[in-house]
Amino acid sequence: MKFEIRPATLEQSAQGPQDALLVLWPQDAKDKGPLAQWVESARRQGDFKTTTGSVLQSYGMPGVRPRHLLVVAAGHGQAADVRKAVRSAWQSLKGLPVKKLAVHWAGASAPTQPALQALCTELADASYVYVSTLSKAEPRQLAQVSIGLGQAEPAHSAAVQQAQALVRGVELAKEWANRPANHATPRLLADAARALGKKPHIQCKVLGPREVARLGMGAFMAVARGAVEPLRFIVLEYKAPQASGAPTVLVGKGITFDTGGISMKPAAEMDEMKFDMSGAASVLGVFEALSELRPALHVVGLIPATENMPDGQAVKPGDVVTSMGGQTIEILNTDAEGRLVLCDALTYAERYKPSAVIDIATLTGACVIALGAVRSGLFSSDDALAHALHSAGEASDDLCWRMPLDDTYAEGLKSRFADVANVGGRAGGAITAAKFLQRFASRFAWAHLDIAGTAWRSGAAKGATGRPVGLLLQYLLTQAQAGTAASKRTRKATRQAR
Ligand code: BES
Ligand code: MN
Ligand code: ZN
Repeated sequence: MKFEIRPATLEQSAQGPQDALLVLWPQDAKDKGPLAQWVESARRQGDFKTTTGSVLQSYGMPGVRPRHLLVVAAGHGQAADVRKAVRSAWQSLKGLPVKKLAVHWAGASAPTQPALQALCTELADASYVYVSTLSKAEPRQLAQVSIGLGQAEPAHSAAVQQAQALVRGVELAKEWANRPANHATPRLLADAARALGKKPHIQCKVLGPREVARLGMGAFMAVARGAVEPLRFIVLEYKAPQASGAPTVLVGKGITFDTGGISMKPAAEMDEMKFDMSGAASVLGVFEALSELRPALHVVGLIPATENMPDGQAVKPGDVVTSMGGQTIEILNTDAEGRLVLCDALTYAERYKPSAVIDIATLTGACVIALGAVRSGLFSSDDALAHALHSAGEASDDLCWRMPLDDTYAEGLKSRFADVANVGGRAGGAITAAKFLQRFASRFAWAHLDIAGTAWRSGAAKGATGRPVGLLLQYLLTQAQAGTAASKRTRKATRQAR
């Protein structure tokens, strides 16, 4: 999907070559032209309300070139109002052959950057259709969105460009998370990563069972034992030429299907465990967005990918395995597999001497109970990193909430037969999982995002959300800005010293 921005009056937007014109009408709209008079008369009759999301619609209106005309009330024009307005307007356009859409911002004041980005991302989300495994599905019609603004400034173009890259990343993440497990095996995920590796400044390396064994990733291998599909350990690296300093490492849980293994899950809704590689998908999505925006950054992506299956070879409750870092682990529940694949990836991350490591995982049902589908769980022992990630969530409307990491929570992980057990009790399950991971993250600043509640929607609207690509991209771009500002300061200081 392509977004562009152009300076235009409402009357100019009504003369464009698009199939439909969607006018966002915030309360401060001050236009006085014929269209505005039409809206005003509808408002006086009570046919167009100021309630955010109210729609006034017309087809083939004389003097308006697009066939469809929709005016939608956009409240105070804030990001949340825009999201609601766009979602509501899309109800009327859904299924129609609208390939090119004009959007006009009728507000007297220009939209904020978050409002503009909400407009793009919400339009993309509403119009997204999954097609990969449907033989007759209509692919998405909407291909081009042209946004008209009274005064279009460079900051608006930059915001739309960033939103477009984010949409690409989110859609790649959704695509891979939505694909059924037999269409998204570890090998196919690795192919997707290799495709990203063909883009400028991105390298991709894929390790198979033999290399993973040589590294001594005993915890990761234990999870893969029951699977016939071979495991993959995917390493992505994005490095801009101007980037300096230690990299940020993203680690995405890549369980392409989680049966629970020998500690098998019940049948109900087990299909949703195809989404158990949503963390991995979000890493792919971030790299897609980076390849488009090319910020001054160094980012590494690590994806331990395998199925979690029961079979004659499968790891059994009570088995003790040795992780890459040398800690022994008693696997009391084979369904707590995410932390096992992640702990070896965290140890692998040490070789980059990273400035920060963030793991992203659909890790616990307990996190769904704690935070629902609104906020991802954020765990970090590093206050600055936690704060930066929380702020990035607020700024991108991809929210998270910090959870505690008191050492007392780790008590349940004690084992008589190994250094640590892979499960505590049921109480505080999202936190004990994080406490397990923390044992493998002592050598760098670390944060863990539990996205079990936010990565996909269940029920009638079942499907991946593409979260938390928005949060991660926002965090990284903020780092890039801080880095550029710092290196400018250094250069200036060096000049002055001469
Ligand atoms: N992938 C699941 C977590 C999950 C469950 C996410 C349901 C979303 C919805 C994870 O591997 C898992 O099975 N976790 C167990 C841990 C338990 C055995 C300590 C869980 O949450 O039940
Ligand atoms: Mn599991
Ligand atoms: Zn899992």
